[in-house]
Amino acid sequence: MKPAIFVTRRLPEGAMRVLEENFNVTCNPHDRVLSREELLAGAKGADGLLPLLTDRIDGEVLEAAGPQLKIVANYAVGFNNFDLAAGTARKIPMTNTPGVLTDTTADLAMALLLAVARRVVPADVYARAGKYQGWAPLLFVGSDVHHKTLGIMGFGRIGYAMARRAAGFDMRVLYTDAQPAKPEIEREVNAKFVDKDTLLKEADFITLHVPLTPETRHYLKARDFALMKPEAYVINTARGEVINEQDLADALKAGQIGGAALDVFEHEPKIHPDLLGMENVVVLPHIASASIETRTKMGLISAENLIAVLLRGQRPPNLLNPEIYG
Ligand code: DGY
Repeated sequence: MKPAIFVTRRLPEGAMRVLEENFNVTCNPHDRVLSREELLAGAKGADGLLPLLTDRIDGEVLEAAGPQLKIVANYAVGFNNFDLAAGTARKIPMTNTPGVLTDTTADLAMALLLAVARRVVPADVYARAGKYQGWAPLLFVGSDVHHKTLGIMGFGRIGYAMARRAAGFDMRVLYTDAQPAKPEIEREVNAKFVDKDTLLKEADFITLHVPLTPETRHYLKARDFALMKPEAYVINTARGEVINEQDLADALKAGQIGGAALDVFEHEPKIHPDLLGMENVVVLPHIASASIETRTKMGLISAENLIAVLLRGQRPPNLLNPEIYG
């Protein structure tokens, strides 16, 4: 008999096919996030869980699943929805989907950067509304991107991919991270390691690529916006909680910074109402990894992790809590 897995939202067909070939799949029948009760009920009796970043997986869910549960394979690279300690305490491997969404996410971060600098969204709205009466010297003038300074906060896979894109725009690149990258990497993308305040003061665009941890919660707040140039922009494709959203709205209202382009929000799916009213803010509904190729690959990576544990009795390739194997 095939092992039973619970998938908390239907994935692209290419991924569902592989899951259905290998497992007895139960899937959320609705086109919406499951309620907590539905998640607990769906997990019951599963050998494996495949949750999304919108599903909080903690001790309660692991207990509700039952003692046969052998793996939780997240459909995301970020895993702040996991209580990793709860999985580790029960010796349940927990996995994520690193690597496959790096370029897709960096592409969208660059799209946001270009959109906010060149006022793409309000200009599109204006043209569609039939307001375009002819070329004008000051019509939707924005800021240049080329030859400006890009500040990358978090120089992991996605931060590095942003630096590579910035090179194509002849940008100067500064970055922060826990430690500097290897000199050959810095040379390749012409990036300079600096402290946080230097980056805040010198960058024209600041793009966030740190994971959400207790240390990075509200990594950007009032004192940080106060250090930024008044014409600088913030781009966030990481996690909403990395920015204090009220402080960001206040800084924008006060003209302390030039604008923001956001794919993620502090209280998703809610967006701070002040941000929605601002023309110098671009908002997207958390779609940085949303290309069909990448969303399919993410599902295939989750499937690989489930197959390793449930069919082969092996350690999964994208294990987040290796200590369970001793
Ligand atoms: C992730 O994977 O963490 C993204 O936020 C969604 O793809």
